[in-house]
Amino acid sequence: MNIYLIGFMGSGKSTVGKILAEKLNMQFIDLDEEIERRENKTIPEIFKEKGEKYFRNLEKNILKEFAKKDRLVIATGGGVGADEGNLKIMKNSGRVIWLNVSLEEVFKRCEGDTNRPLLNQPIENIKKLYENRKKLYSKADISINVDSKNPENIANEILKEL
Ligand code: S3P
Repeated sequence: MNIYLIGFMGSGKSTVGKILAEKLNMQFIDLDEEIERRENKTIPEIFKEKGEKYFRNLEKNILKEFAKKDRLVIATGGGVGADEGNLKIMKNSGRVIWLNVSLEEVFKRCEGDTNRPLLNQPIENIKKLYENRKKLYSKADISINVDSKNPENIANEILKEL
């Protein structure tokens, strides 16, 4: 069984995932890092040179690959848990945990961030993206509110819910 962390950009998936993996003695995988390593490009470069559709395909294929393995804690990119097909893949191979962060907190945490192409657009579009994605994120097995909590406490909260 794997553990998948889903949620909006800046929800803390990677930070919490690393702590959780250590506590559970499971291997940690950061899906975005895996994509960058394989493509030998940063995410903004992939978006710019190959486009979002190409990135989403990569994301799905790598997710499928890891879904065949066992005992992984996987921090997904913010778009992974916002896709019905991906949610199915994750639910069939483990537990899906949504780190639910408010949009206000996202803006606070990601101020000045240039590594996330989807935050580099008008606020109205980001708000729409956030609202639409919430509907899918909420299909996770476990939901955790993460605003004003530290990663260690969030990981402990997840442990109690597993
Ligand atoms: C994305 C989130 C990013 C990264 C890419 C696209 C998204 O990951 O995968 O920029 O669609 O929300 P983080 O959620 O780790 O920022």
